[in-house]
Amino acid sequence: MTTTDSGRHELLGWWEAARRDVPWRHTRDPWAVLVSEVMLQQTQVGRVAPRWQRFLERFPTTAACAVAGAGAVVEEWAGLGYNRRAVALHSCATAVEERHGGAFPDDLDALLALPGIGPYTARAVLAFAFERDVAVVDTNVGRVLARTAGQRLTARDAQARADALVPAGEGWAWNQAMLDLGAAVCAKRAPACERCPVAAACRWARAGRPQPDPAVGSHAVSRGQSRFAGSFRQGRARLLDAVRLGEPVPPERWAEACGWSAGEHDASRAAATLVADGLAAFTPDGALVLP
Ligand code: ADE
Repeated sequence: MTTTDSGRHELLGWWEAARRDVPWRHTRDPWAVLVSEVMLQQTQVGRVAPRWQRFLERFPTTAACAVAGAGAVVEEWAGLGYNRRAVALHSCATAVEERHGGAFPDDLDALLALPGIGPYTARAVLAFAFERDVAVVDTNVGRVLARTAGQRLTARDAQARADALVPAGEGWAWNQAMLDLGAAVCAKRAPACERCPVAAACRWARAGRPQPDPAVGSHAVSRGQSRFAGSFRQGRARLLDAVRLGEPVPPERWAEACGWSAGEHDASRAAATLVADGLAAFTPDGALVLP
């Protein structure tokens, strides 16, 4: 796609008919948008929807989240995975309260300066809460950009191309459309070019999809995650699940809580890293509790 072709018009037209109705598209509250974006970073849309609603009932504002404490947010995060996101969200809520009196800044640099907010999330808040004409580049959008450009892109190039594509005044819809196109049509393994609204403007499709796929290794396109089953991370997550049950978990129960047999991994290292990451705390007698 280029800024001068008709691909942009085609994409917005396609999206009007194909758009997914997801609950966070009905709000412009920056806190609610941020929570959705953080949850969506590693968790599927269908699993996020009910949890997003429940999270916002418990922590409707940054103030409510900040005063509830990191432990309450970690507790609420159960089952969503990547637990450090819960601690980061709490830190962010606290910083918005302390630095900005509870009102999210609508400025890229101020958003980037908040804990836990990176280039993607900052722009997602600007586009989806403040309806600003900036472009979000996640793994799905990164794939669309590389394929339409017909080449692997650097971070700077991908962001510049993405920003240049945003039609003036349409940042909100445009970014939602790009996310949906990447998720539903420009799929990683089996792209559905035959029903893609921008295929005519896509260099890779027009060239007959030569290998290697330009999306592979391009900016923001994920390389897939390392195996979770049987990993140290999985044991650590199980230990945190045991802590979430509410009773302090003493050292003699750590290995069992991790699901590890003797000598498999070091359960005290799992406990220490949970504490170092702000996900848990030690009681005076060395048991593990929520922070
Ligand atoms: N993934 C990331 N942001 C999203 C959004 N706003 N809607 C659907 N999926 C998304």
